[in-house]
Amino acid sequence: MMMNKKQSNIDFRCMSFFFKIRDKFHPPIEKIRKASIKHGEIVLDYGCGSGSYTIAAVEKVGPNGKIIAADIHPLALEKVRKKAEKIGYHNVETIQTDCATGLDDKCIDKVMCFDVFHDIPHKNDILKEFHRVLKPNSILSFDDHHMNEDEIIDFITSKGLFKLAEKKDKQYNFIKI
Ligand SMILES: C[S@@+](CC[C@H](N)C(=O)[O-])C[C@H]1O[C@@H](n2cnc3c(N)ncnc32)[C@H](O)[C@@H]1O
Repeated sequence: MMMNKKQSNIDFRCMSFFFKIRDKFHPPIEKIRKASIKHGEIVLDYGCGSGSYTIAAVEKVGPNGKIIAADIHPLALEKVRKKAEKIGYHNVETIQTDCATGLDDKCIDKVMCFDVFHDIPHKNDILKEFHRVLKPNSILSFDDHHMNEDEIIDFITSKGLFKLAEKKDKQYNFIKI
């Protein structure tokens, strides 16, 4: 399987700083609402970065739900763990991976894949992994401002694994087939 290289630590820190500013203008909770994340759900935040959406989602799922934050970069997972600890959430798990999550089949209610897909060379493998871990009829919530709408819809739907359920601004909710 083709793997992509993780960023340098300095690049990761610069990106995290940029996301702090981004989040002031675009509060992460907006994407969580568009993904229709609900109380009690188990959510995989794939390519979680510094955890903007992980933390917003954990507030939404509450103590009966869980967020699994996955990233290729160890600093991402360290940041997510620290943020979760600071606000006293114990229902955030982290996985370091570039594709395989090691999760059970059909255990996830929602996958969030925000601003990461463009960077992944082995896109088909990642899609298969999302399909494997999602429960039947569950949602892959997707956005990537580096890809245009046709590319996104074509890529995600053309393998027969997902179909488009709804589009909310530039965020797409695909349903597992
Ligand atoms: C541009 S950041 C987006 C972070 C977060 N989703 C957000 O929007 O705030 C992309 C993240 O994906 C991670 N990443 C890149 N390739 C990956 C892969 N193959 N598997 C898991 N994470 C990956 C990077 O380390 C980085 O943290």
